[in-house]
Amino acid sequence: MEKSFKLKIEKLVYGGRGLGRINGRAVFVPFTAPEDVVLVEERSRKSGYSEAEVVKILKRSPYRVKPKCPYFGKCGGCDWQHIPYEKQVEFKRDILEENLQKIGKIKKPNIDEVIPSPSSWNYRNRAQIKVKKGKVGFFEKNSHQVVDIDSCPLLKEDISGIFPRLKKLLREIPTEPLEFHVYSSGKDEVLLKIIFPKRFKRFEIPLSKLKGILGVNLVGYGIYRQGDVFPERIRFFGRDFTYETVGRFKFRISADSFFQVNRFQVKNLIDKVSQVAKEYQYMLAGDLYCGVGTFTIPVGSYVHRAFGIESNFSAVSDALYNKDINGLRNVTFFCRETEEGLEIVKEYNPDLLIIDPPRSGLNERIIREISKLTRLKKIVYVSCNPSTLARDIATFYRHGISMERAKLIDMFPQTYHVETIAYLRKVR
Ligand SMILES: C[S@@+](CC[C@H](N)C(=O)[O-])C[C@H]1O[C@@H](n2cnc3c(N)ncnc32)[C@H](O)[C@@H]1O
Repeated sequence: MEKSFKLKIEKLVYGGRGLGRINGRAVFVPFTAPEDVVLVEERSRKSGYSEAEVVKILKRSPYRVKPKCPYFGKCGGCDWQHIPYEKQVEFKRDILEENLQKIGKIKKPNIDEVIPSPSSWNYRNRAQIKVKKGKVGFFEKNSHQVVDIDSCPLLKEDISGIFPRLKKLLREIPTEPLEFHVYSSGKDEVLLKIIFPKRFKRFEIPLSKLKGILGVNLVGYGIYRQGDVFPERIRFFGRDFTYETVGRFKFRISADSFFQVNRFQVKNLIDKVSQVAKEYQYMLAGDLYCGVGTFTIPVGSYVHRAFGIESNFSAVSDALYNKDINGLRNVTFFCRETEEGLEIVKEYNPDLLIIDPPRSGLNERIIREISKLTRLKKIVYVSCNPSTLARDIATFYRHGISMERAKLIDMFPQTYHVETIAYLRKVR
């Protein structure tokens, strides 16, 4: 099957790979840049396209730079370290535009702002670190092989070099875990989750000893067992939450709750989402997939009443606590899957809706029910996947809701991931 040929890379596509064509056939090649001329070897042939890997760079793209990390190209965490950050953001804009055109069926999408991350390194506050046969790091691209690493330049400074310390920890515990989940707050308070296979030997390490081994300000650690969807908590030692302060808002974040990963962009994201609530007097705002109330609480400070719906119990508990510590009495939260929560949405009948679903986006039923809301004026759709966003926008359009404008806010430098804030309104 292996076959080598010369290829010119035209552009980058969602997923991070470069696209070139040979006799009209699309060929996708990872770790390339537009205008590269590369000798590639075909790795697989699918209907209509091929996947290939670079054997040799024949002519370097003018957009290439030296990657900062020695593991780049092997470690699956990053896709674009070989491209300067300003260009990464431009290429993401092109990808968003193309998705909105081709899948979203918008001829000329109005992307009115692109907000690069204030820092493109050391921005991540969390990592899910893989473990296998003594190796500690991240998976190789499209594989379950662990690349053993000593540091990661995307992680916050206090946790970027935690890997050798985690390897030391492996020697102290009787069963090899599957993963370590590390979260470090804005004040460098670290939470650690150790995820074991279904069967493992119980153990206990004093928090102070573990803190010494890891060399970080560990405030709590938990022992978890692999579950069907999420890891199942067995025991937690110390504190199982920390706090984040974003502008004038404070959030409690528990070890099992989601919070935005880019510590430099979270304020910009909250500001851009809540701006709509400042510009118009909305009566009632709904926030679907609300997490710990990241948007519900700031938006709630501008509107008459607000409610959030979220399926994760831990996040909802944080959200209820967060509304109190932020002194908001007009906000409430419900622990529901969005589909189950649609009855609540209909009852509240909001005029403003914030939606921030996981990568899979929404579904036809959710979109249909939202579109039927009689008072709805505006939707702010925050998305981490431009393809499902564009698909959902096309569905919204069929139900009388169209996209006015969108902003690209880069939450994930060095990777292909694209975060978008799309502003939608009812047209009929
Ligand atoms: C991308 S996060 C956004 C969270 C929040 N808006 C924020 O910015 O921190 C998506 C959230 O949706 C929740 N979630 C996932 N599937 C859900 C579902 N079917 N129904 C309700 N919430 C869900 C997750 O637990 C997570 O908190």
